[in-house]
Amino acid sequence: MTLPSAPTTYDPALERLEIELLLEAVYRHYGFDFRGYAYASLRRRAWKRIQAERLETVSDLQAAVLHDPEVLDRLLDDLSVNVTAMFRDPNFFLAFREKVVPLLRTYPFFRIWHAGCSTGEEVYSMAILLEEEGLYDRARIYATDMNERVLRQARAGIFPLERMQEYTDNYIRAGGRRSFSEYYTAGYDGALFDPALLRNVVFAQHNLVTDRSFSEFNAILCRNVLIYFDKSLQTRVHRLFYDSLAKFGVLALGGKETLRFSAFEECFEQLAPAEKVYRKVR
Ligand SMILES: C[S@@+](CC[C@H](N)C(=O)[O-])C[C@H]1O[C@@H](n2cnc3c(N)ncnc32)[C@H](O)[C@@H]1O
Repeated sequence: MTLPSAPTTYDPALERLEIELLLEAVYRHYGFDFRGYAYASLRRRAWKRIQAERLETVSDLQAAVLHDPEVLDRLLDDLSVNVTAMFRDPNFFLAFREKVVPLLRTYPFFRIWHAGCSTGEEVYSMAILLEEEGLYDRARIYATDMNERVLRQARAGIFPLERMQEYTDNYIRAGGRRSFSEYYTAGYDGALFDPALLRNVVFAQHNLVTDRSFSEFNAILCRNVLIYFDKSLQTRVHRLFYDSLAKFGVLALGGKETLRFSAFEECFEQLAPAEKVYRKVR
């Protein structure tokens, strides 16, 4: 995906200053803290919004955001990349089935946290997997994101019909045991997933940068979120996950994310190294 960039005449030092001021304004006025996000991606996304709003400078965007909460909502959508899929990275779900499910089976009751769940596809995938493993009724799933709009979509459970073929393929590669179409009803608006899959799911707004932990979990999935954070913010969130995990709890990151070289590397063992599944051991 190519995103627009700054006009060539823009002074890079001035641009950085204006972007820092924009982020400061968004934080101080609205409480959303993007100050520790990776700069290159922030910068591209800010310019996408500047051009879409027909503005000229980053400072124009700052003024627009401060005076119009709807511009803020659109900027939030740009900054919170919501791309997701059902059974995304099927090998991850296969590894979860093979390596994590046997651990969960030893608990009479367990809690899973999907941090940065976006529109919920990952959560429905997990509910299906646990259902098929006969474990769903022992689970409580907390699914959080900072973006309220994506959570509303997640609760509705309606996903584009045109993606069902891709999702069916993912489901099979992830070790799915039934026919994927058993889980949804096709209609004009899309594929409506069985609402019973949400019976043990709580969706809630939670910001990984500004909010604290809210329970103790046996598994935390935070996939394809930390990739947008700079190193020090990643460390902060690793600490949050470490503190929120029960001893021997499992942490799953995205394919391009790692605990390697982090302050917490020594506290985890690798359960499925290629799939970025870790287990807290100390
Ligand atoms: C690319 S999606 C990943 C969705 C899903 N985990 C997956 O891997 O398919 C990233 C999500 O992280 C959320 N996010 C970004 N920064 C966040 C923060 N500070 N706190 C909570 N969620 C955040 C975004 O709103 C977005 O929905």
